[in-house]
Amino acid sequence: MHAVVTGSNKGIGFEICRQLASKGDMVLTSRDEKRGLEALRKLKEESCPALLGEIVFHWLDVTDSASIDSLVELIRNRIGKLDILVNNAGVGGIVYDFHDFADAIERAGGWPTDEAEWRKMAAQNYELAIECLTTNYYGAKRVNKALLPLLQQSSSARIVNVSSYLGLLQHIPRKPIRDELGDIENLTKGRIEEILKYFLEDFRQGQLEAKGWPENISAYKMSKAALIAYTRLLAKELPSFLVNSVCLGFVKTVINGNNGVLSAQEGAESPVYLALLPETCPSGLLFSKKEVCSF
Ligand SMILES: NC(=O)c1ccc[n+]([C@@H]2O[C@H](COP(=O)([O-])OP(=O)(O)OC[C@H]3O[C@@H](n4cnc5c(N)ncnc54)[C@H](OP(=O)(O)O)[C@@H]3O)[C@@H](O)[C@H]2O)c1
Repeated sequence: MHAVVTGSNKGIGFEICRQLASKGDMVLTSRDEKRGLEALRKLKEESCPALLGEIVFHWLDVTDSASIDSLVELIRNRIGKLDILVNNAGVGGIVYDFHDFADAIERAGGWPTDEAEWRKMAAQNYELAIECLTTNYYGAKRVNKALLPLLQQSSSARIVNVSSYLGLLQHIPRKPIRDELGDIENLTKGRIEEILKYFLEDFRQGQLEAKGWPENISAYKMSKAALIAYTRLLAKELPSFLVNSVCLGFVKTVINGNNGVLSAQEGAESPVYLALLPETCPSGLLFSKKEVCSF
């Protein structure tokens, strides 16, 4: 088994890498060489002797074509195929006030749902929104596209797209957008991207609430909803692959100031489970941890 995990120098990606490394060969990737090599060292040190295959590090910034091309070259030259791709790299698209966030979690007894509270503790802006869509949606799509020929050489190709409960359609107030993104028969990738463009334009003009987009953590919610919709389309296009997306729960990592409730190890279990599904399992589904859930 040969696998690649994007954004695997820390957090959930690192744990996915560690868990998959007990099954076969891995490419641990990071957009920063120093952080990636340090993570590789840590993984080898901590996981020994549980590592089954070979682990190598490769630079991968999912927003940078040169790094994607270079990863493709590495895999093509060393192995000639890829069995598992986990699109995990992601950013939050907001700047938290982590102190307020921790207080809000305590008050809510878990993930805070009060929009007014979110307005106070999480700042967002147009530049962060662009970065968030570029990384979480377009980045995953670019990496998929580039690695597709190598996945096609595998007899059991699997793509796991790491999404979030915040990507569920219920977080988008505007019903026609919910209906379109959820309509697997008629939706196209082009339409997903048109929707993201309208979203960004309304964001730029300060029209989020007026136009019925998510009011808070807006770009993250739209990026993860787009990723789920895209996963469903990709699965239709690639019937011999298993292509699924997953919501992990609220995991203690840097993205939320380590305020989650699950450990990174627990968070990694469901993407790893999907990466190793038997061939007879279904594709094009959204999972909540290890159970199928609706979009
Ligand atoms: N934590 C949660 O509660 C939770 C819940 C649901 C879904 N998720 C999703 O889980 C995934 C992993 O997040 P995490 O919680 O583990 O957060 P994290 O600790 O912040 O890790 C994010 C990883 O993505 C990498 N990354 C960011 N932008 C990148 C880019 N352009 N190219 C390549 N790598 C990039 C980061 O690299 P750097 O170290 O260089 O920043 C880091 O390795 C994300 O997709 C996130 O949306 C998390």
